[in-house]
Amino acid sequence: MKIALVAGSHRREAESARVAQYIQRELNTLGISDTYLFSLSANPLPLWDEEVWEGGEKWKTLWGPVSQQLKSAAAVVVVAPEWSGMAPAGLKNFFLLCSGDVLAHKPGLIVTVSASLGGSYPVDELRTSSYKNTRLCYIPDHVIVRNVGQMLRGDQAADEHDAALRKRITYSLRVLIEYAKALQAVRDSGVVDLKTFPYGM
Ligand SMILES: Cc1cc2nc3c(=O)[nH]c(=O)nc-3n(C[C@H](O)[C@H](O)[C@H](O)COP(=O)(O)O)c2cc1C
Repeated sequence: MKIALVAGSHRREAESARVAQYIQRELNTLGISDTYLFSLSANPLPLWDEEVWEGGEKWKTLWGPVSQQLKSAAAVVVVAPEWSGMAPAGLKNFFLLCSGDVLAHKPGLIVTVSASLGGSYPVDELRTSSYKNTRLCYIPDHVIVRNVGQMLRGDQAADEHDAALRKRITYSLRVLIEYAKALQAVRDSGVVDLKTFPYGM
């Protein structure tokens, strides 16, 4: 089983990317050796434009390889920093590009990141607004990484909060893996019809 991770910060030295790398290593520990981490650090994708619909060369080059990797994954971990109480614009742009069967009917784990005590707003935003056309199925569990600067550094937990966070991440990934197995049956059922119903209501 392959699991994709998206690190949703545009910053070059982003904590979200570090968190995504920690989760990638934890997936390996849980037996998922096939992972794909796509980071939005330094803005690898331009803003969506109509050429996406026309299959323009720019998009074939920039988005084609990424979408192929995502298509072959059975689940996705979305790591989103809280920026001004929101998910970053680049992450929303990413979801605009994930139409069709890229993420459809695959389970998603939301992991949000805050340098302080934020992190709940992007959970709410992603659950509200990033699933309609992508058909991404967020699992009920999510993870909020607060005080990220002190968390997930090194092999050993720094304190009880770091230890609890690590346990929460491991647990949520194990749940995600079971959803990935279960939702494969939905995608294989023949019921999903994205040609007739390409967009959610
Ligand atoms: C433009 C911008 C806006 C931010 N707004 C918030 C915020 O509303 N709430 C919060 O908890 N942290 C906020 N932060 C700080 C982030 O929590 C911090 O940068 C953290 O490391 C996660 O973002 P990163 O993955 O880009 O490093 C903001 C950071 C930036 C760059």
